[in-house]
Amino acid sequence: MTFLFNSDARRGAIFADAFAKELPDVPFTMDAATVDPDAVRYLITWTEPEDLARYSNLEILFSIGAGVDQFRLDTAPEQVKIVRTVEEGIVRMMQEYVTLAVLALHRNLPGYLAQQRAGEWRDIPQLQAGSRRLGVLGLGHLGQAVLDRLKPFSFPLAGWSRSPRRIEGVTCHHGERGLEEMLAASDILICLLPLTEETRGFLDADLFAKLPKGAALVHTGRGPQLDQEALVAALDSGHLSAAMIDVTDPEPLPADHPFWSHQKVILTPHVASVTQPATAARTVIENIRRHRAGLDPIGLVDRSRGY
Ligand code: NAP
Ligand code: GLV
Repeated sequence: MTFLFNSDARRGAIFADAFAKELPDVPFTMDAATVDPDAVRYLITWTEPEDLARYSNLEILFSIGAGVDQFRLDTAPEQVKIVRTVEEGIVRMMQEYVTLAVLALHRNLPGYLAQQRAGEWRDIPQLQAGSRRLGVLGLGHLGQAVLDRLKPFSFPLAGWSRSPRRIEGVTCHHGERGLEEMLAASDILICLLPLTEETRGFLDADLFAKLPKGAALVHTGRGPQLDQEALVAALDSGHLSAAMIDVTDPEPLPADHPFWSHQKVILTPHVASVTQPATAARTVIENIRRHRAGLDPIGLVDRSRGY
């Protein structure tokens, strides 16, 4: 029962050490060319290999990241469990990134950077945190972790999910009506939704129109969720004040895309959160132990929902 690691060798070496110590009865390899495909029970990868079907005894297909939108969920054999990697490192980095983005937007950083480039020394009227309402789209592992990290700043906090949730200190919304209520009361909207057929193109002109004038966007979900032209239009019209964008479609953007130079956009190259190999290896090993004990792995994907 072999574990096949199909990603970069640097992270693979750290996984190999962890497997040797913690799960010595599971042979570990990074060499897809020489592995006996029938022996592979576990495969971790970012993109799904074209020849997935050759691993006829595969039990778990692990995504090395928190998302699974890069996999063809409908074509992987039925009996194969698809599992995301939600590990301490990814969670911590996303907490840092969203805190950075929220504070940057709250304290008018895009405006001050533009003024610096123009040689202007002028204060921009500043709201207190208690008057800046935050709304998080997606109350899963990352949405909840981010909200938890933002609590000490005293921003009014809200979140939206498909099913009802109760989170202390957070006004929780769900469903269509809940979305409208939250959008109308979000001065900074943070997208942490998975990419599914329902969330593709979700951040569009209609949604922006429902936000209060002057609202800002933090986008750390997936590029195809955002209508990039609609965002530029909303920023140019002044309806939205600024955006911090970590994910785009395509990645990277073409050289002439307006995000590169837009004064109201801070752009980062899909780095909000990156899988950390030592903590990820622990999570994967724990999930194999759970699976062998007949339990569902943490991060098991529900194929019918797409996340
Ligand atoms: P998760 O635990 O699966 O949570 C997803 C949340 O979104 C859940 O609250 C879910 O609602 C909600 N949701 C999904 N579809 C919805 C819909 N149609 N309407 C309303 N709510 C919906 O996912 P996660 O671990 O928090 O990760 C979220 C996403 O972050 C990942 O899928 C990935 O795309 C992105 N990500 C980005 C980076 C980066 O570096 N930029 C890094 C890691 C992850 P329920 O609670 O009702 O199920
Ligand atoms: C990164 O975007 C991930 O899904 O882990």
